[in-house]
Amino acid sequence: MTNDKALFYKVLNQLIEDAKVQKLKEFPQHHGSNALRHCIAVAKRSFELAEKFRWDIDERELARSAMLHDYYLYRIKEEGLSPYRHGTSHPVVAIRNADRDFGLSAREMSDIRSHMWPLTFWHPPRSKEAALLCLADKDIAIREFVSPEIKRAGRIVKRIRKKNQERKNRNEKDS
Ligand SMILES: [Fe+2]
Ligand SMILES: [Fe+2]
Repeated sequence: MTNDKALFYKVLNQLIEDAKVQKLKEFPQHHGSNALRHCIAVAKRSFELAEKFRWDIDERELARSAMLHDYYLYRIKEEGLSPYRHGTSHPVVAIRNADRDFGLSAREMSDIRSHMWPLTFWHPPRSKEAALLCLADKDIAIREFVSPEIKRAGRIVKRIRKKNQERKNRNEKDS
């Protein structure tokens, strides 16, 4: 396997530094995240998975597809879209916007088109890069969903422990 990590991060960082990509910060994503943070996390994860699976990838294609996969540039709530409708339609919107601003290759378009598979059943991943993006997106979405819940559970456990300790202290004082 001969993936060039430096090239991957060079292409990725060029995109991240672009003012148009920075706009992604304005669009909320799963549970307190925003589209910029989400896309960076997905891009990094997709490269990590390529390393893990020992898959040779096109670094430039993967960095660009992953970083631009959610470049739909709207607020889901303001658009009045149901989660299903957004889920099935945003890859096409992301492709249109990203192609306008950054000029996508046919492979990059195909990678972005399939990132919601199997929700978009008729558009399965057709390349290693597409499969990595699809997997990394789900992995990161689950983490973004689960991590606030874990924090919340942690706070509840802490509160219970504190109450138990207070009760114990009171009992010791009384006895
Ligand atoms: Fe997406
Ligand atoms: Fe995503």
